Amino acid sequence: MALLELQQVSFIYPNGSKALDQVSMSFEEGEKVAIIGQNGAGKTTAVKLMNGLLKPTSGTVIVDGWNTLEHTTAQVSSKVGYVFQNPDDQIFHETIREEVEFSTRHLNLSESEASQVVNEALQLTGLMDVADLHPYSLPYSLRKFVAIAAVLAMQTKVVILDEPTAGQDARSLERLTKIIEHLTKNGKTVIMITHDMNYVADQFDRVIAMANRRVVSDSTAKEIFWNPAVMKESHLQAPPVTQLAGTLSLGGRIITVDAFVKACKGTKE
Ligand SMILES: Nc1ncnc2c1ncn2[C@@H]1O[C@H](COP(=O)(O)OP(=O)(O)OP(=O)(O)O)[C@@H](O)[C@H]1O
Ligand SMILES: [Mg+2]
Repeated sequence: MALLELQQVSFIYPNGSKALDQVSMSFEEGEKVAIIGQNGAGKTTAVKLMNGLLKPTSGTVIVDGWNTLEHTTAQVSSKVGYVFQNPDDQIFHETIREEVEFSTRHLNLSESEASQVVNEALQLTGLMDVADLHPYSLPYSLRKFVAIAAVLAMQTKVVILDEPTAGQDARSLERLTKIIEHLTKNGKTVIMITHDMNYVADQFDRVIAMANRRVVSDSTAKEIFWNPAVMKESHLQAPPVTQLAGTLSLGGRIITVDAFVKACKGTKE
């Protein structure tokens, strides 16, 4: 059985706005999956259903054998950690360290175990040196790492990152990659929403493309970026290097700069 599953899930917000229409997707332990799609496609709604912040209007959400309708948000979110799209919706403590410490409160850890978990989360997110500062002393893009550190410290089986790439420079993207590597190496499932197609091409094999409240495709990055019908329906643009490879009629369904460079060298030789 999958670790996390949405079965034919629809969701209607209290104001009557339908945000998901018969969506099914499932995730195994240790998997790493990107969810992509235009603004308003339903990505954030889908992941909020996964951690119990929202409950389905119809259909079923199963988390580690639990039907989320039968469990509280606190119970479900002890298995599925969700880093909010906007870190400021999540951060409410006076220092970065307190923000991260708060996550360990419900874990029944000894003081020394808790401090080890907190230090590891601060280390991984590169926040150790600024741990005693107020979260708002960091710029918005780095506050996203405070939100990530707080979720890492919850030690959930699944970690969901909602647009962590937005506004990040190359160094921060590298840090993000290290965090994801660390999680998957430890058997965690990582689900990431992003609009950064280059990052998806570089880092993710499995990709779910959403549009208009539904799943358009659940496949590999190559299959999706090289399928014009899927790209059009999702209102997405493949990475520039894919578009260039298409124009130049290079084979091999290229999606990364590395593969592009290799293919160009190959045609010269
Ligand atoms: N709190 C809310 N109340 C009412 N409607 C909402 C609410 N949040 C989202 N919606 C609507 O639900 C639909 C899906 O929104 P959602 O936030 O899930 O999309 P998204 O794919 O995450 O978009 P984005 O890329 O802009 O973050 C949209 O039509 C949106 O306007
Ligand atoms: Mg969103």
